Amino acid sequence: FSDFLTDTFNRQHDYLRISITERCNLRCLYCMPEEGVPLSPPSHLLTSPEIFYIASLFVSQGVTKIRLTGGEPTVRRDIVPLMQSIGTLRSKGLRELTLTTNGVSLHRKLDSMVEAGLTGVNLSLDTLDPFQFQIMTRRNGFDAVMKSIDRILEMKRLGADLKLKINCVVMRGLNERDIIPFIEMGREKDVEVRFIEYMPFDGNKWSQGKMLPYEAMLNIIRAKYPDLRKVKGHKNDTSKTYEVPGFVGKLGFITSMTHNFCGTCNRLRITSDGNLKVCLFGNAEVSLRDLLRKDNNGQPMDQEAFDAIKQIEIDRRRGALGDDTVLGWGERERELLEVIG
Ligand code: GTP
Ligand code: 5AD
Ligand code: SF4
Repeated sequence: FSDFLTDTFNRQHDYLRISITERCNLRCLYCMPEEGVPLSPPSHLLTSPEIFYIASLFVSQGVTKIRLTGGEPTVRRDIVPLMQSIGTLRSKGLRELTLTTNGVSLHRKLDSMVEAGLTGVNLSLDTLDPFQFQIMTRRNGFDAVMKSIDRILEMKRLGADLKLKINCVVMRGLNERDIIPFIEMGREKDVEVRFIEYMPFDGNKWSQGKMLPYEAMLNIIRAKYPDLRKVKGHKNDTSKTYEVPGFVGKLGFITSMTHNFCGTCNRLRITSDGNLKVCLFGNAEVSLRDLLRKDNNGQPMDQEAFDAIKQIEIDRRRGALGDDTVLGWGERERELLEVIG
């Protein structure tokens, strides 16, 4: 592993998340307002060749896992050819190519994505009830999501090496009652459902009262499944994993609000307009797009890009809270909460 992407806490940043669009075809209550998010001018967004270039650069430095995210990545029209090109990096050391999606239009593209090298889908779904789906996403699309899930499970049965995780954001008073049906899904299906603590983002109307903490979710689940037990997860997981003995599926919790996992964070992020960010909540960003677009006889300037990336790693080491702390989600969130009030 090149020490280029290793920080002073010896965290190796081998996982790159690339946002390929800001747009989305749903309006989940916890994420987007009804009118959507302000969109960047198209010329500010990365083109597919630029995304591929950045992906190659990071894979050449030791990144082994790439996740495409959004917005909703499948609304980008050229997602399949983009995935095909990134898929070729498997011969250069890329081991996992994954997607975070709401699943609404996934079923139409899934087969060609798997052929291109897709190894995992994290599907955002907060309820198994069609009416509740409409309330939480402010849109239709439940049947289409189910179709995508069925197709993923079918491809797995046919032997595809494809991991399925469901991301379920739990909001108190809204979808706690959806927790149990999701766990039931795992009785026979090979799926990991992860319950996520509702996090504050700019303008998402977060309040402490609407956040259901990990321990409260555990209590709800233990009341029905007393033999629930913790299983050892992977070192860089965002989630704590559990299982109900006898069930095929697993469950997990993403506890960003109550137990941060910065100490083991191995993620780098590229925004759809080409900024490299080391932390979801961090403010240090550097524009790789501007570096790529500098006129250099058509050749992107590797050294300059490397220096810029190294600089942001140093910013990460400092963190937002002082010279010698790893940026802590918990701490940063407390700060955010003070700002939000
Ligand atoms: P895996 O590769 O399956 O581990 O995916 P992931 O959990 O990293 O990514 P996904 O896109 O499925 O995101 C799931 C949830 O984790 C979302 O709510 C993200 O906002 C959150 N998340 C992802 N990375 C981080 C992180 O570094 N810190 C925190 N607090 N949350 C994160
Ligand atoms: N809190 C927690 N998770 C969120 N997501 C989107 N907004 C929030 C929020 N406010 C989740 C989605 C998706 C993942 C990438 O982020 O459910 O699965
Ligand atoms: Fe946000 Fe994802 Fe919901 Fe779209 S599907 S509104 S990006 S959480």
